[in-house]
Amino acid sequence: MRNQLRVLFITPEVYPLCKTGGLGDVSAALPAALRSMQVDVRLLLPGYPQIVSGVKYKSKLADFSHLTQFPPSTLLSARLPLNKSENIPVFVIDCPGLFHRDGGPYMDKSGRDWPDNALRFGLLSKIGAVLASDASPIAWYPHIAHCNEWQSGLTPAFLHFHAGQKAATVMTIHNLAFQGIFPSANVAQLGLPAASFDIDGVEYYGNMSFLKAGLYYANHITTVSPNYAREIQTEPLGFGLQGLLTARRDRLTGIVNGIDTGEWDPATDTCLVKNYSSGKLSGKAVNKAALQQQMGLTVDAGIPLFGAVSRLSHQKGTDLLIQLAPQLTKIPAQLIVLGSGDAVLEQQLASLVDSYPDAIAAHIGFDEALSRRIEAGIDCFLMPSRFEPCGLNQMYSQRYGTPPIVHATGGLVDTVIDSTPATLADGSASGFVFASMTQNALLRTIIRATQAYRDKKTWRRIQKNGMAKDFGWRIGAEAYREIYQSLL
Ligand code: ADP
Ligand code: GLC
Repeated sequence: MRNQLRVLFITPEVYPLCKTGGLGDVSAALPAALRSMQVDVRLLLPGYPQIVSGVKYKSKLADFSHLTQFPPSTLLSARLPLNKSENIPVFVIDCPGLFHRDGGPYMDKSGRDWPDNALRFGLLSKIGAVLASDASPIAWYPHIAHCNEWQSGLTPAFLHFHAGQKAATVMTIHNLAFQGIFPSANVAQLGLPAASFDIDGVEYYGNMSFLKAGLYYANHITTVSPNYAREIQTEPLGFGLQGLLTARRDRLTGIVNGIDTGEWDPATDTCLVKNYSSGKLSGKAVNKAALQQQMGLTVDAGIPLFGAVSRLSHQKGTDLLIQLAPQLTKIPAQLIVLGSGDAVLEQQLASLVDSYPDAIAAHIGFDEALSRRIEAGIDCFLMPSRFEPCGLNQMYSQRYGTPPIVHATGGLVDTVIDSTPATLADGSASGFVFASMTQNALLRTIIRATQAYRDKKTWRRIQKNGMAKDFGWRIGAEAYREIYQSLL
């Protein structure tokens, strides 16, 4: 045990305590998979109210009132409430001045970024760096600091300028569209040396960027699918960082996300009206009828029911979906959308529902249980993302016997096989892929899926192919372990 690999996994969200998207799921499932492979992974989390009150076996571990740039905080040691054998140890930064507030982890209730986000996630990054160095006040010293998203992007920068012993760093990009860009005055305010404010450093077009700092100073960079790793090395998906990413491409690895196949299993998911499996798919129809009823749609087993669960945003192509929804009803087909985000898109969805109350339903908000009932109850999942670093819902869908329709981008390409005569014949067809991001291409693909749906034998085959795929974390976790090991 003494030679065990130790990893500090720094993340701004984790399921089930705080989740705004896929990062929350990954931050629980990947550490659990690594722990089952004997890697001693522990999480470092900001102490939002739901995290401080939600973790189990809390105890105070250290005091951080000496970090003069930040309000006083304490470090708690605790466990995630996962009810599983792989109980994950967590460190929680309890800083009332920065984290005890109503609203979301990154934004207030009205959707505005917290004005002190640089300080909030500067503290997460800073404490990550302290714990990963010989300045740490605790006895557990990690070999690797694994940073996730811009919120922990300054950890590699702080460590770079730390003179003593320190852990190696891995920076994982979950979405390059979010970079944590703040005015340059933050460099001094957060306690970074002036020398770091350079093109070879944290500087980004006159501002400072948390993510760029991580990408520049980390020993290794990963992102959440091999295809996205290629895409971000050029415009437009490099979002201004393609030069740096290309220069560091020998240190950039794409590892496709897995899913927690125990958490996401239609045979055991307690949110479903009826459990089912690949061998006993009949239970899926019970979920469809219940969902149609719950959402106020015409209850009809024969009509194809499409659905989407996502952030309502330009990235996710929600606008495209809204535009073609009236045509979808004419197929005829039904549509259910669960999501929240862009206020204009939320309003447009609401007026669609008013116009087509029997065929289109929407629930604005974040609802984990409903998202699972939708995965189980719909026939076909819609994911017309303009870009998608990995995406988890297309994998949840396949596991739930709900073939997804996806745009050929990012991780969607790595995880969904288009249904063609050839892929149907070789047993790999698991969904539908469209190449050009237009309303026409999406509609044509929806019609193609509807035709397959009407051919019950073909549809069963696509469903079963998807359900048989191994989306678990075993291979991905092994790839992360190899990277950690290569940095020792
Ligand atoms: P992203 O992280 O870009 O939002 P992913 O596909 O990786 O996209 O992960 C999204 C996760 O968030 C999935 O688990 C999805 O079910 C969940 N999710 C998104 N919106 C909602 C919502 N409104 N209600 C419940 N779950 C949601
Ligand atoms: C991001 C990406 C999504 C990915 C998730 C988890 O939110 O948008 O594609 O699946 O992170 O890595």
